[in-house]
Amino acid sequence: GGSSLWGGRFADGPSPELETLSRSTHFDWALAPYDLAGSRAHARALAAAGYLVADDLERMLAGLDQIEAGWRDGSIQPKPSDEDVHFALERELVAAVGPELGGRLRAGRSRNDQIATLVRLYLLDHATTIQHLLVQTIDAIAGQASAHPNAPMPGRTHLQHAQPVLLSHQLLAHAWPLVRDLERLRDWRVRAAESPYGAGAVAGGALGLDPVPIAAELGLGAPMLNSIDATASRDVVAEFAFIAAQIGIDLSRFAEEIILWATREFRFIRLHDGFSTGSSIMPQKKNPDIAELARGKSGRLIGNLTGLLATLKALPLGYNRDLQEDKEPVFDSVQTLEVLLPAFAGMVATLEFDTVRLAELAPQGFSLATDVADHLVREGVPFREAHEISGALVRFCEAEGLELDEPSDAQYAAIDPRLTGSVRAVLTVEGSLASRAGIGGTAPERVAEQLAALTERVRGL
Ligand code: ARG
Repeated sequence: GGSSLWGGRFADGPSPELETLSRSTHFDWALAPYDLAGSRAHARALAAAGYLVADDLERMLAGLDQIEAGWRDGSIQPKPSDEDVHFALERELVAAVGPELGGRLRAGRSRNDQIATLVRLYLLDHATTIQHLLVQTIDAIAGQASAHPNAPMPGRTHLQHAQPVLLSHQLLAHAWPLVRDLERLRDWRVRAAESPYGAGAVAGGALGLDPVPIAAELGLGAPMLNSIDATASRDVVAEFAFIAAQIGIDLSRFAEEIILWATREFRFIRLHDGFSTGSSIMPQKKNPDIAELARGKSGRLIGNLTGLLATLKALPLGYNRDLQEDKEPVFDSVQTLEVLLPAFAGMVATLEFDTVRLAELAPQGFSLATDVADHLVREGVPFREAHEISGALVRFCEAEGLELDEPSDAQYAAIDPRLTGSVRAVLTVEGSLASRAGIGGTAPERVAEQLAALTERVRGL
């Protein structure tokens, strides 16, 4: 075991079975640039504390840069005997600068505080990418909303026609959750940017190395104040996995509507050829695969979160090897969102809405019945009775095959004397929409304000 990180204690090297189980380089090799950044900062801390002379520091930094170049061009690869990324990079450093100098870097740090730091650095970088992709997705939705400022559509509850709403209002209802997801990522960054570096294996550093400049060089905030917490906690990773899952769920709800809207029965939208798929056997097919993949991948994102939470449940402190299982699920969540969001944004940006059909359907299903009741309330009728009268009108019209504004004055009066022909004035989609002018309502001027507020809020992030 002379070549391993713990050769002294062991008479024999690792069994091949252990090596196969233990190895993590097939996923943690992605952390190499972060590991090397940590090593550079750590080497400077060693030099500042008098453990490396200036010349050795220069040679060490040059060796680390050379390894990073090799990682980038693929000429440096992990070996099957490397347990993990830290192991592989130390082997490379020893090869680059010799065992005397290469063997000095590990002083005062542990793979436990390293890995806890690296996963944060990786997630912070990818969070930036995901934030940009979320902004693009929100922009695509907001773009469709501003392209259709006054188009009405059926608003639904229980998937049944409920009240007319603006298409732009419905679209923006899918944008707001993504705005909050952006804010969740921003808020998460504060916790993610605490630095575990310097915590060592469990009990903290004994060599007088200053973790503050290390944290600063890595772009992190303050060092964490409890070395056990620093090395054993993964709540920050789980929180990221939650935000990723929530983004997936938010996309899946829009995806489900897009899938429905694209059906022959709904015919609300047409998907762009570039963002839909055909069938290998049915020539007529045009399928909403991006929306279906969004719906499907949301399950995978939930799985990554729940798997990680199950790993953490009741895990004693400090570091346990179980914690190596944090990376694959959260890396998968990152990769899933980084391929899903661009496709989803493109699909949304290129949707074509059949606004004529949407306008025709908006008043159907007696969706203006609430407006009848509200009209009676404005005439002084208690809402309880107004609801009854409007309900009786719906029952009458349904039986007679009429719309709500089609009965004669006599027929209105027969339902209730307080129901007069004046009700017809409120029985238009435009009138209904305009009347919903409370804060958050679907009246055109409220939705225009909403769009401006949403745009403003995203710009501020
Ligand atoms: N590869 C480990 C991980 O991903 C870090 C190394 C710590 N291993 C150890 N035996 N202390 O969590």
